[in-house]
Amino acid sequence: MKTQIIKINRNNINKKDIELAANLIKSGNLVAFPTETVYGLGANGLDEDAVKKIYLAKGRPSDNPLILHIADIEELELLVERVPDIGKKLIREFWPGPLTIIFKKSPIVPDIISGGLDTVAIRMPINPIALKLIDLSGVPIAAPSANISGRPSPTRASHVIEDMDGKISMILDGGNTDVGLESTVIDLSTKIPTILRPGAISYEVLRDIIPELLEDGNILDERIRPRSPGQKYRHYAPKSEMILFKGDIEDIVKNIKLQTHEYISQGKKVGIMATKETEEFYNEGLVLVLGSREDKLSISSNLFQTIRSFDHEDVDIILGEAIDLEGMGKAIMNRMLKAAGGKIIKV
Ligand code: TXA
Ligand code: MG
Repeated sequence: MKTQIIKINRNNINKKDIELAANLIKSGNLVAFPTETVYGLGANGLDEDAVKKIYLAKGRPSDNPLILHIADIEELELLVERVPDIGKKLIREFWPGPLTIIFKKSPIVPDIISGGLDTVAIRMPINPIALKLIDLSGVPIAAPSANISGRPSPTRASHVIEDMDGKISMILDGGNTDVGLESTVIDLSTKIPTILRPGAISYEVLRDIIPELLEDGNILDERIRPRSPGQKYRHYAPKSEMILFKGDIEDIVKNIKLQTHEYISQGKKVGIMATKETEEFYNEGLVLVLGSREDKLSISSNLFQTIRSFDHEDVDIILGEAIDLEGMGKAIMNRMLKAAGGKIIKV
């Protein structure tokens, strides 16, 4: 299949281009599109055959449910059994935006979307290209991240091309995504609301609205069995091994330097995932800077791109600095830990 790639300026959207994409969605094809979090791989969420193509293109396990993306709040009522009061509050506050909410599903949601569960995940993105595409398609768009299963989520169109070229009908290139990490997932289908995946909308911010809010223990501990089906699979993985170091920043740098020297003496190519504050202390290895510890968004928006860069450079091992958990720090550490397969050393 030839994959058509169309550049879209999000500040000046050419309606004709989005119409082309929407027609592809309506006729059961796959279109990758930017959201504020990561690029999504979209299909008509009410068309089982179209949704099957998503699983095929990604190589995704069939028990891993998909998020339905909507552009209009009225669509929500058709897709869910009911919207609890707390859900209405969250929607007022955070939609459109990087928050996915899990509800009890209505019968029109195909089983293939929910992975056999009786719930459905819904999100209204804020990226204008995504909103326009959903709007013109006239259906809820099922969209996982547009990467091959297990690989880092795409934050640029070039990442989507890397993973999906020749497998899907179209890629809308809307530039780099803003947040760089997938949406926060909150489950409202159970007695006590629980965060299943951390994202830009943090636990602290959500707890102000839901005092009893819980968090899945798996978020920062790979040994705990996750509640969300997707979280049990290896994610965001670089091709090489990855090890994280946590502790005081001076100790982290000291240990990464020692390890780097040791690996290099064994003939290995070492990648160091550093921050703006620590970059200057490293004098060996391939040093890539995520961003500043003072600006978590600079780190989140670069994380997956950086992991892919280490792949391109064919490093044998990546040594990464842990960062603090405040605000988006938790979401960043959750992705880093998954990328490292849980390998973290306290120094
Ligand atoms: O930011 C995002 O959410 C991106 C963009 C494209 O919108 N999408 C995304 O989709 O990250 P995906 O499929 O890569 O991740 C969805 C996560 C998975 O961990 C999945 O298991 C979980 O949400 N999920 C979906 N439906 C669920 C459900 N009914 N119950 C529990 N977890 C669910
Ligand atoms: Mg994903």
